[in-house]
Amino acid sequence: MTRFFSLLAVAVLGLQLIQVDRASAASNRIVAVGDIHSDYKNALAVLQMAKIIDSKGNWIAGQDTFVQTGDNVDRGAGTIDVYKLLQNLRGQASAAGGAVINLLGNHEVMNLGGDLRYVTKEDTASFGGATARKAAWDMQTGWIGKFVYNSFNITHIQNGHTLFSHADMSVDWAKKGIDQMNALAHKALKDKKFKEPIFTTYGPVWNRDLAKEEAGESETCEVIENIKQILGVKRMISGHTAQSSGKVLTLCGNSYIGIDVGITAYYGANRAALEIIENNDGTQTVSAIYPSGKVILS
Ligand SMILES: *[C@@H]1O[C@H](CO)[C@@H](O)[C@H](O)[C@H]1NC(C)=O
Repeated sequence: MTRFFSLLAVAVLGLQLIQVDRASAASNRIVAVGDIHSDYKNALAVLQMAKIIDSKGNWIAGQDTFVQTGDNVDRGAGTIDVYKLLQNLRGQASAAGGAVINLLGNHEVMNLGGDLRYVTKEDTASFGGATARKAAWDMQTGWIGKFVYNSFNITHIQNGHTLFSHADMSVDWAKKGIDQMNALAHKALKDKKFKEPIFTTYGPVWNRDLAKEEAGESETCEVIENIKQILGVKRMISGHTAQSSGKVLTLCGNSYIGIDVGITAYYGANRAALEIIENNDGTQTVSAIYPSGKVILS
């Protein structure tokens, strides 16, 4: 009998330990990184700084969510290594109970559509020439093309509170909702219609109206509030518009955060990531992570 009770005690203790372990492992962290533009070395540096990967490029972020907001290609020569890294991280994150969210940038769409104006000679050479590079980007048969076609959406809402897109959202696009935007983008890729409205100037991979405050400061904030209400989010995060300051752009009380800080050497090799921590009371703590440390934004 005593033996039974002590076994029971061990079993109960064991269960409690497992529960404690689960609770402490459940992640409450989201990390977002903007435009990488074929710069593998600086991509590694930023992801290490944000504690997403170790020095060998392996996922160390457990159940965290890593969002990359598109434009992993063009202007640099490390396209192959950058997409291999993203592909590896998706698998490793998923095995650890975490997630990698990849979004389409205008440069992904350009490369899928054969618009190679921003491809460097060195990058083409790294594939073994233009024909081999084109083959790699084929959406049916190429390893990068298939990866982007199958795993990249045009917009994403994480945990119900934060909208991510490569470029700026507009009120008209927001009204369609994210599922319809993702479906339209996917259909356009499928049909090889790279000039569909969703892929043009005012669509979510090209628009800069918010980052540039085209409507003026207060009207831009009204537009941002309107988009927040339509999509039921607290904030929106975009890349696309490079900040020469190397710091994230915050507008309208952190309702809009621009995270293209120019990570690639072409834009200054600046390092920054955005971190969102879920607090127990349902609020979020949003910070920018820089080499000099973390800056709490809100
Ligand atoms: C893309 O978005 C749709 C809905 O908006 C979702 O069902 C799908 O799982 C997403 N795909 C990926 C690869 O995240």
